[in-house]
Amino acid sequence: MSTSPLLTLLFVSIFSFVQSISKYRVLSIVPRDEFQLHKLRSLREKFPQDFSDFWLPPSSVNGSTHVMASPGSNLERLLHKWNISYDTMLDDVEKDLISNSLLFKKREIALNGTRLKDDLSVPFGGLPLGVYHGYTAISDSLQRMADSSKGLAKYITIGTTVEGRTIAGLKIGHDDGKKEVFIFDAGIHAREWATVHTALYFINQLLNPAADASVKEYLDKMVIYIIPVANPDGYEYTRIDETNPKFRMWRKNRGRELCSNSVDGEKRCCKGVDLNRNFDFQFGAIGSSRYICSEIYHGPFAFSEPESIALRDLFMSLKGRIRAYITLHAYSQLFIHSYSHRAKAYPREIDDIRQVASHAVKEIEKMYGTKYQFGTGPEIIYGFAGGSTDWATEKIGVKYSYTIELRPLYTAFNGFVMRPSELIPTARETWNGVRVVMDAVLRELPTPLPPSLCVDTQPGCIAWIAASPSLCQTNPASMRRDCAKSCQFC
Ligand SMILES: *[C@@H]1O[C@H](CO)[C@@H](O)[C@H](O)[C@H]1NC(C)=O
Ligand SMILES: *[C@@H]1O[C@H](CO)[C@@H](O)[C@H](O)[C@H]1NC(C)=O
Ligand SMILES: *[C@@H]1O[C@H](CO)[C@@H](O)[C@H](O)[C@H]1NC(C)=O
Ligand SMILES: [Zn+2]
Repeated sequence: MSTSPLLTLLFVSIFSFVQSISKYRVLSIVPRDEFQLHKLRSLREKFPQDFSDFWLPPSSVNGSTHVMASPGSNLERLLHKWNISYDTMLDDVEKDLISNSLLFKKREIALNGTRLKDDLSVPFGGLPLGVYHGYTAISDSLQRMADSSKGLAKYITIGTTVEGRTIAGLKIGHDDGKKEVFIFDAGIHAREWATVHTALYFINQLLNPAADASVKEYLDKMVIYIIPVANPDGYEYTRIDETNPKFRMWRKNRGRELCSNSVDGEKRCCKGVDLNRNFDFQFGAIGSSRYICSEIYHGPFAFSEPESIALRDLFMSLKGRIRAYITLHAYSQLFIHSYSHRAKAYPREIDDIRQVASHAVKEIEKMYGTKYQFGTGPEIIYGFAGGSTDWATEKIGVKYSYTIELRPLYTAFNGFVMRPSELIPTARETWNGVRVVMDAVLRELPTPLPPSLCVDTQPGCIAWIAASPSLCQTNPASMRRDCAKSCQFC
């Protein structure tokens, strides 16, 4: 008995279909009309991350969306049902992760004992750059760098995570209590490893005298806080098995498990809150989800998570002094400024904010030709509410508040997994852009008052400051006018 060719073809195609859906794969999907776009958006909001994980979220009709589907996911079936066309960009994510992991192993061996260029030879017990490190090694190295920096850097802790890890960082620059403050964080999203590396590179630029000649001036005038891993639980979770997408592609924190009926009618239990949707500005509006299993779950209420609370408290404790905040994310090559919760919403100082962003992306491009776009979320990618930078602008009054989405471009087929050869160039070019923001802060520092103006023009200054010791910092403009002497502004 011979099998008909048609039947063979059927078997083969069923076999390859079953085989392909037993793997993690990445689909590129293009919505052709508003209906399809809406379906994709609701998929991102309502379905579990372990079913369809959006690497490039849906932004517009005819724009690509990239989604990692897990083994057993019925994503393709739904797409067929809605008549949405798609291509497979990456048919085996695990294979890609394994090959990348091997590249890193090779690199670690190659780097071992090699003398690095000046801006890469980390002083004071810092970790080697160009490779990734675990959280304990990172926080230990922060401690070592602070200990041997002769007082230039201070090891700080800003809170404790759900799983009990200490969220550590460095405060760099001698603080007289009045200097302007610049805050950096990275790794709010667990899988965005290149951001953590970039933050460690920034620390090296600031502590290593051989790295950057402008640093002295920055640190004379500013105090810089860097929290290189803002979500240590999530980061360590992604490191459990860097070749398994289930771990490596985790985005949220490790907040406690909650169960609920999902939109597909099944009871599902999941952990984790998207920390960059958990800040208290426009909480729960667009681009976030109330479904626990979603990758963009905003949490039960604003600041429900210890990691976002830790950042909030750091900002609150420095309110009135913070001139700039940069949070590092990946990927898409974007320099995003406020506001991102709806289209055409801008802070008061939008002209300066845009101008600095525009200059920064030019400086980034100068180095290796990497092209960034700048604008608000809705202008250049998609709206999202409850993010840290909008909150810092609105509630803390931080003028220059940017979300930087690092390399690669959104068209990359696996942007979270950067090849080792790109790590240092990414950090270098980003530093070049960040310096533009630091320069803007320096340029806008008030010039010292001449001695003739060094007076209190109001009789109540001493009493006011006694009643409210942070008054000079929280209301610098009016206090400079009224109480320059008592505030020691001159
Ligand atoms: C999307 O592309 C199709 C075909 O190329 C075109 O007819 C349609 O106008 C485009 N729609 C939008 C909103 O760009
Ligand atoms: C599905 O889309 C194709 C074009 O992509 C179109 O020709 C076809 O009519 C659509 N089918 C349905 C049921 O909408
Ligand atoms: C690097 O060298 C040290 C000592 O020379 C050795 O103990 C260590 O295992 C090496 N690391 C790698 C990744 O080869
Ligand atoms: Zn992110």
